[in-house]
Amino acid sequence: MARRKKIYEGKAKILYEGPEPGTIVQYFKDDATAFNAQKKDVIEGKGVLNNRLSEFFMTGLAQIGVPTHFIKRINMREQLVRSCEIIPLEVIVRNYAAGSMSKRLGIDEGTQLPRPIVEYCYKDDALGDPLVTEEHIAAFGWASQQDMDDILSLALRVNDFLSGVMLAVGIKLVDFKIEIGRVYDGDFQRLIVADEISPDSCRLWDMETGQKLDKDVFRRDLGNLTDAYTEVARRLGVLPKNASPITKPTLIN
Ligand SMILES: Nc1ncnc2c1ncn2[C@@H]1O[C@H](COP(=O)(O)OP(=O)(O)OP(=O)(O)O)[C@@H](O)[C@H]1O
Ligand SMILES: [Mg+2]
Repeated sequence: MARRKKIYEGKAKILYEGPEPGTIVQYFKDDATAFNAQKKDVIEGKGVLNNRLSEFFMTGLAQIGVPTHFIKRINMREQLVRSCEIIPLEVIVRNYAAGSMSKRLGIDEGTQLPRPIVEYCYKDDALGDPLVTEEHIAAFGWASQQDMDDILSLALRVNDFLSGVMLAVGIKLVDFKIEIGRVYDGDFQRLIVADEISPDSCRLWDMETGQKLDKDVFRRDLGNLTDAYTEVARRLGVLPKNASPITKPTLIN
């Protein structure tokens, strides 16, 4: 393939210029990082699984009318997406207390929340992606009031979709993070779900055993991360049911 121009290399993905204007190729790496990149490792097979799982979730969202950046998967590690201006926020939706919320508010991990709670963090690695309020977002102009209404509605729709998909395969959606991008169609602008949706950006617990099937396996040294992601992919039918715990996945096309 002709050499493409690299646009950005992040912790988990590389972005290349796409074949058409307004498109980007997202390459999923095997690199895993946690605690603002203080903990790092290469987890063989992770990128392949996240590419497939993000395709699966984004395609499902499109089917229920939630706009996303996903266009098509190109190969095992790459997908073509619509390029957008990323709103500099991590949008977090929580159904059960865990992680930083449990620490901050002293709520036991796994406690069901009275309703889904949406939080915003300002995307800035140097600052450790700090929690911000809608006041900060409005005052600093990161998003307008109309954007915030749209972001909240997208986040809750993604939550309902992902919770249902997971419930059907015996997995509890504890929380997740999405990124939202702005695209322009002529004079109109609208917001779409961008970046990735994968076990790197969700907390997923087995409903029966409570076993963690997400990046906490890496953060907290709970076992093999690829095995956990393979289990999620297998249950969702993204991998054949009899796929062995893999490092080099054999995937259904
Ligand atoms: N459709 C898109 N158009 C433009 N940028 C995108 C799109 N989808 C995702 N991105 C951006 O591409 C990058 C993906 O790389 P990666 O997830 O590895 O980044 P990261 O290390 O998490 O860093 P950060 O998100 O802080 O930039 C992110 O910066 C993300 O915001
Ligand atoms: Mg990222």
